[in-house]
Amino acid sequence: MDKKRKKNFYTNIETIKNPDTYTVLVNKYRSLGKYAPNDLQSLSFNKKYQLREKAAIAFEKLVNIAKKDHVFIRPYSAYRSFKYQTKVYNAYVKKDGQDKADTYSARPGHSEHQTGLAVDVWTEGHENILEKDAKWLAENANKYGFIIRYTKEKQAITGYIAEPWHLRYVGQKIAKDVTNKNLSYDEYYELYIK
Ligand code: DAL
Ligand code: ZN
Repeated sequence: MDKKRKKNFYTNIETIKNPDTYTVLVNKYRSLGKYAPNDLQSLSFNKKYQLREKAAIAFEKLVNIAKKDHVFIRPYSAYRSFKYQTKVYNAYVKKDGQDKADTYSARPGHSEHQTGLAVDVWTEGHENILEKDAKWLAENANKYGFIIRYTKEKQAITGYIAEPWHLRYVGQKIAKDVTNKNLSYDEYYELYIK
């Protein structure tokens, strides 16, 4: 991605034509419009959190495997509809102003949470993710099909501050490859998927 493009977040916005593919790229240049997935299922931990079928299965597996390494994670946000993201984003804009809100909250249509493939996790008993657990996720989530979508190193590309708690399901093979290559999903998509 060239330098000019990085500075032009939310310009030349493209409507995503394949929102149902598990490898879909959603970012500040690509909008889902009002898309909603049709295979959402509730997570067993708490019915109010939903993910698409494969992502839900993979997530439960990840949570159970993590326990074996004494990493106890819980979802606190998963699928978010266009309407719900509108509420979330507008509340942040009101609180912090649009420029700041844009560094940590996606505009409606631009959130990965709307795909049903993204889930935010906290350490059980905490309202954040402990550093040791974030480290475990960064090393191991890819084995179960998830990537850490927003890292500090890739902030200029993604347009978001680091979110070590935000997991995005892309499937095992691609998650491993993205992680091993140390690329943002935006870069990976341009190079290998598009
Ligand atoms: N916090 C992430 C970027 C979102 O709002 O989807
Ligand atoms: Zn998130």
